[in-house]
Amino acid sequence: MEQKREKFSSRLGFILISAGCAIGLGNVWKFPYITGQYGGAAFVLIYIAFLILMGIPILVAELAVGRASQQSIARAMDVLEPKGTKWHWYKYFGMAGNYLLMMFYTTVSGWMLYYFFKMSAGGFVGLDAAGVGEAFDTMLGRPGLMTFFMVLTVLICFTICARGLQAGVEKITKVMMLLLFALMVVLAVRSALLDGGEAGLEFYLKPNFSALQEYGLLEVLFAALGQAFFTLSIGIGAIAIFGSYIDKSRSLPGEAVLITILDTFVAFMAGMIIFPACFAYEVNPGEGPSLIFVTLPNVFNNMPGGRLWGALFFLFMCFASFSTVIAVFQNIISFATDLTNASRKKVILINIVVMILLSMPCVLGYNLWSGFQPFGEGSAVLDFEDFLVSQNILPLGSLIFVLFCSWKMGWGWDNFIAEANCGTGMKFPSWLRLYFKWILPLIVLFIFVMGYYSKFFSA
Ligand code: ALA
Repeated sequence: MEQKREKFSSRLGFILISAGCAIGLGNVWKFPYITGQYGGAAFVLIYIAFLILMGIPILVAELAVGRASQQSIARAMDVLEPKGTKWHWYKYFGMAGNYLLMMFYTTVSGWMLYYFFKMSAGGFVGLDAAGVGEAFDTMLGRPGLMTFFMVLTVLICFTICARGLQAGVEKITKVMMLLLFALMVVLAVRSALLDGGEAGLEFYLKPNFSALQEYGLLEVLFAALGQAFFTLSIGIGAIAIFGSYIDKSRSLPGEAVLITILDTFVAFMAGMIIFPACFAYEVNPGEGPSLIFVTLPNVFNNMPGGRLWGALFFLFMCFASFSTVIAVFQNIISFATDLTNASRKKVILINIVVMILLSMPCVLGYNLWSGFQPFGEGSAVLDFEDFLVSQNILPLGSLIFVLFCSWKMGWGWDNFIAEANCGTGMKFPSWLRLYFKWILPLIVLFIFVMGYYSKFFSA
């Protein structure tokens, strides 16, 4: 049933598209606000430790499963698992994760798109910091407006997917990512030079461990775990599918390290842009999901040519978030075409409708359904959906990949390590086996269980 599988045309294409899947709102929108909520630099250190200890190994596990099976998660585990086992049931869990992630991602991407147009049209010119804050609240109060930009996001991204892997996804993502990297460096320099910005750099770069006590170490660990998994998009097969599009010329640990470095670079630079600006314009870094929207227009308002820089920033942010949306849509499309005989076109048309409907609760959560406040005052549907994905589906899905790759009753360590290390480049040493089999799963499980306890049951 499977036609010849499309491949990436180059290694750069693969790296940038995988990094494109990883890099997105998680880096520029979510990383700064979570870091702001949990006290700054100390959180960043924990987050980076988690990327190294857990993120990279799990990234390799996903890529290996994809490359060895040459399938999306719709069939990857069916191909690799020992006969009679049920690992393939994971596919439904993983796919639910892809949809859930998109249920709020499309809305926030829509915000980026709206901000791009508003910034281009001079919509923030002359506003002070309070006015910029109000503009965001006004947008949240207009479901029609948010629906329009959410729908636009869904349509643009599915249209790019419809053009296929090389012509659509790879070509566009490559350009988008390179432009984004360059612009972020420019903006970070500009922000670091703002009057009053030093306090922001200190908050961001100088660890203050007493901030961790304020929230409780376990809750902070839980948040860092969710963010590390979110930023790499691991646990839902969104990365595994890219493994299925590459050949065996390069070993996977090296590729995973590279993807993680690129991802961390963008997140780090986002912090370098946002935190000096927060302190310079007296925006609370613990503001939450609105953080970049109420901070950045101030920066642009106060810099020469700010309207153009601002428009470019939000345009490239659209690129970054679209590259994630496109990657996840690609996964959703492959899932359906691998499992059924439906044509790509039909699958896309159905999913456009499904995706729009599924995205509506997030849009309405800020206005018509704002009474639903799952985590207390000010929280919304978005927070709930994000919690389900980041704190549940991603860690548990990642756990399944790790166990599958290291346990005998799964695909097994020998098969995994042979696949991961096949090709030139960095290799995993064989002593990592113990780590993969016991230590890594136990760390994930421990933080998961204790994080729940601390979030919901401790005083
Ligand atoms: N990894 C994606 C992001 O960071 C989900 O936005």
